[in-house]
Amino acid sequence: MLNFEFKNPTKILFGKGQIAALATLIPADAKVLMLYGGGSIKTNGVYDQVMAALSNHKHKVVEFRGIEANPEYDTLMKALNIIKTQDIDFLLAVGGGSVIDGTKFLSSAALYQGNNPWEILSKPIRTEIGMPFATVLTLPATGAEMNSGAVITRAATKEKLGMGGPGLFPQFSILDPQVIHSIPLRQLQNGIIDAYTHVLEQYLTYPIGALLQDRFAESILKTLTEVGPAIIKDPSNYDIACEYMWCCTMALNGLIQKGVPNDWATHMIGHELTAQFGIDHARTLAIVAPHLYQYKFENKKEKLAQYGERIWNITHGTLEEKAQAAIEKTTAFFHELGVETKLSDYTKEYAHTAQFIEERFTQRGWKGLGEKKDITPADVKKIVEMSY
Ligand code: NZQ
Ligand code: ZN
Repeated sequence: MLNFEFKNPTKILFGKGQIAALATLIPADAKVLMLYGGGSIKTNGVYDQVMAALSNHKHKVVEFRGIEANPEYDTLMKALNIIKTQDIDFLLAVGGGSVIDGTKFLSSAALYQGNNPWEILSKPIRTEIGMPFATVLTLPATGAEMNSGAVITRAATKEKLGMGGPGLFPQFSILDPQVIHSIPLRQLQNGIIDAYTHVLEQYLTYPIGALLQDRFAESILKTLTEVGPAIIKDPSNYDIACEYMWCCTMALNGLIQKGVPNDWATHMIGHELTAQFGIDHARTLAIVAPHLYQYKFENKKEKLAQYGERIWNITHGTLEEKAQAAIEKTTAFFHELGVETKLSDYTKEYAHTAQFIEERFTQRGWKGLGEKKDITPADVKKIVEMSY
């Protein structure tokens, strides 16, 4: 096992009716900016619950509506202006990964001393201290509610970049699985695949003897293979919703990545597909992951075979045959969920994409991705071409 440090300060309130706890969790004299997306919270009752919980706070809650999927830098700069001009001192994200990530950016930008907050992403600058914030999660998928990372998009330059740091853990996050009943099919599919791929990024590398982390990871994968198809069939089943929501949080709250090699190349490549074509984050992962596993087969075959045995019950054949079957099972699982795994399923404009991403990664100096830092920009080009 590799050396590691582990600290996760985010308090989780999980279960029915927990949104009401906002009344006591947010300081009574805080000047709160509540941030949300396009308005799903107004139709599913979450907005009313939040407002009721904060009705006795000293200052009226200021609202910022309109953080879009793949949160846009220009939109966030408008929210930053409100924070600065209205003396906001507490941020409350009510939404999915996009609203939470946007809020994390604002938490950092609000205290940033430089003139150009984009530098937080372009350099990137690690955030040691941010403005206090919390979340009410409405869409299980990203794990953003219990981690300290964020990804921000800039349409003007077609960029999608990550940021983070120990100052960007939410103070607390409220996870009421009842919010799941109103999530559209497309977002449920996305959430399952995003969480599943988060685990694979931290698990499908090479054996390092971290038996417990492997079994943590496998338990999340196995649970997702059971509850994923079930939640799609019946999003209002509370018991299944609980399992699904907790899987998504546990998949990316830092626990399973400790002491083991991490990959994340699928995410780095996937972000470019969102930046270029606006493809949903999780779908970019479904496009890239199976091809990346195929391309890096030699590096990953031991863990692929273990994954195949323990998650998909592949018990026959050589190590290579089991590993190959595991990739095929993964692709089949994505298809079973109703998600396509080829770039050409999403856009017809893909011809120059691989070349473009190769050049971009070269310019950024991203010379070696993956758990062995051996995926060069030229390899990225080949992986993207395989996904056409
Ligand atoms: O905007 P509203 O109206 O709220 O609608 C949203 C949005 O259209 C809707 N939605 C959310 N909760 C709902 C609901 N609709 C009905 N009922 C509910 N309860 O769902 C749509 C998508 O929301 P979004 O927040 O964009 O989805 P997701 O949670 O998948 O977040 C994706 C973003 O997170 C980033 C992605 O790159 C992407 O930008 N990620 C963040 C990570 C992190 N911070 O750790 C890790 C991930 O790998 C990922 O990169
Ligand atoms: Zn993801």
